Amino acid sequence: MKVDSKKVDAIVDEYGCHRDSLISILQDIQSEYRYLPEDMLRQVAKRLDLPLIQVYGVATFFKAFSLKPRGEHMVKVCLGTACHVRGAPAVLDEMKRQLDVEPGDTTQDMQFTLETVNCLGACALGPLVVVDDKYHGQTSAGRVKRLMREYVKDSRGK
Ligand code: FES
Repeated sequence: MKVDSKKVDAIVDEYGCHRDSLISILQDIQSEYRYLPEDMLRQVAKRLDLPLIQVYGVATFFKAFSLKPRGEHMVKVCLGTACHVRGAPAVLDEMKRQLDVEPGDTTQDMQFTLETVNCLGACALGPLVVVDDKYHGQTSAGRVKRLMREYVKDSRGK
């Protein structure tokens, strides 16, 4: 990805060149680009006069941040115990087949990133799939294809 250094400068300027602003700055970059490009992390470190390793430390500590490009839609399949016993592994297998990616990866068209999680705190709804912030409970392998079709349709309809 081409680094828009002016964009990064604008974000840093908005929060000020304070070390305390680091998380807010990274949140804005993540929100704008859906990940934290390496060159931008370097630029932030320089602007805040922080060691690059410290910026990377924060960027890798919080799960909300990603160092790899993410798709437009985040797909999370819960593999926690309650979801697991209700068939989550089969749901995950079908999701991998539908998206043609492994957990942690993004589809080639940059539409979907697939992740697994251990519990989303809604065990009664298991097996649970969350797409972006929308919960889809009592999911089954058979329902995955239909569910994902909705998102493909939504993406193309924009
Ligand atoms: S185990 Fe899946 S939501 Fe708790």
